[in-house]
Amino acid sequence: MTLAFNQRIHKALEERKQSDLLRSVIALERGNQAVFQNNGKWFDNFSSNDYLGLAASDELKLCYQQAVSDYGVGSAASPLVTGYSNQHQSLESALTEWLGYDSALFFSSGFAANQAVVFALLQKGDLLLQDKLNHASLMEAGMLCDAEMKRYRHCNQGHLAQLLQADKPMMAVTESVFSMDGDIADLDGFVSLCKQAGALSMIDDAHGIGVIGEQGNGAVGMTSKRADILVVTFGKAFGLNGAAVLCSREMKDYLTQFARHYVYSTAFSAAHAVAITRAVAMIQTQQWRREMLIELGAIYDETLNGTAGFVATKTPIKPWLVGEESDVLALCAALKREQSWTTAIRPPTVPKGSARLRITLSAAHEAKAVQKLAFNLKRHSEGC
Ligand SMILES: Cc1ncc(COP(=O)(O)O)c(C=O)c1O
Repeated sequence: MTLAFNQRIHKALEERKQSDLLRSVIALERGNQAVFQNNGKWFDNFSSNDYLGLAASDELKLCYQQAVSDYGVGSAASPLVTGYSNQHQSLESALTEWLGYDSALFFSSGFAANQAVVFALLQKGDLLLQDKLNHASLMEAGMLCDAEMKRYRHCNQGHLAQLLQADKPMMAVTESVFSMDGDIADLDGFVSLCKQAGALSMIDDAHGIGVIGEQGNGAVGMTSKRADILVVTFGKAFGLNGAAVLCSREMKDYLTQFARHYVYSTAFSAAHAVAITRAVAMIQTQQWRREMLIELGAIYDETLNGTAGFVATKTPIKPWLVGEESDVLALCAALKREQSWTTAIRPPTVPKGSARLRITLSAAHEAKAVQKLAFNLKRHSEGC
């Protein structure tokens, strides 16, 4: 029996190696900062999702330190036992008031939140519609749940409208800002189509909250009517980790009974809730961080617009399309030699033939770091 597993594992790893698809983890010193060290060398970090530069900000660090002194480090239980505190309740109020929902439930990650919602809500006989490029957490839940799942063409409202004609209970899900492409869905159109068809609508705002919308209110700022379910994650623009599902009171009551990732998982700590609450306030009030992102984006665009590989986006996610796996690895390595750290994204994360660098900007970057990256990318792309 063990032999069968050993052979399977060995074969799968060999296949990944042969096709330049092997993934590995690198231990970094302060990989959550705009500049970090690896093996004694300094790098500009174009790989993190810390879009607003909060992860290592003094304000958030001090707030977290104080909260740890006040409330300890762990929550010690799931929310339904003793893991839900007054500090979680304050965070819930801050989020629901800001984003205009009745209720919120917290999860340890966006991955868990997405899976919990899909598994708890969808049953046999239902239809789940997803944008073709939705995140793996959503796709996997859709494939494993009891409902039928159909994927509509990326950001294609016509295709979605066509699929929404089915005569069964339906739920549709889209990301707001797509994680690997940096483009923004027509969220107002999405919510309207769902409402017209009587389908439940869900938006995964992992990469939108904090970055797009008025005062960084994300998807909410891009829609005239609220989606039924909004997932926000705290591991990107908030500089922390965890996630919230925002919804109606009755939906919250339902998920509290039936969302297994909620019921059977340790809550994040009260200190963590305090830090997320501070991050909400920083996002709302520190507009300069979003302005900085616009400035850095303009520098990047000005240098690279028109160069092969360049993709224009209105978000800090800047995909650099390469195509072949081996080419993207070579480009990533060349940039590393020049002290710019980017991430090579390969299938199955993105479709075959669309391997790319996922370059992300952060308000913590200095303009000269972005200029240098853009200059080197241009040089490599033009083969000089
Ligand atoms: C669109 C999207 N949704 C959900 C997640 C999962 O969030 P978390 O990292 O909090 O598990 C990610 C993570 O990268 C994401 O990009």
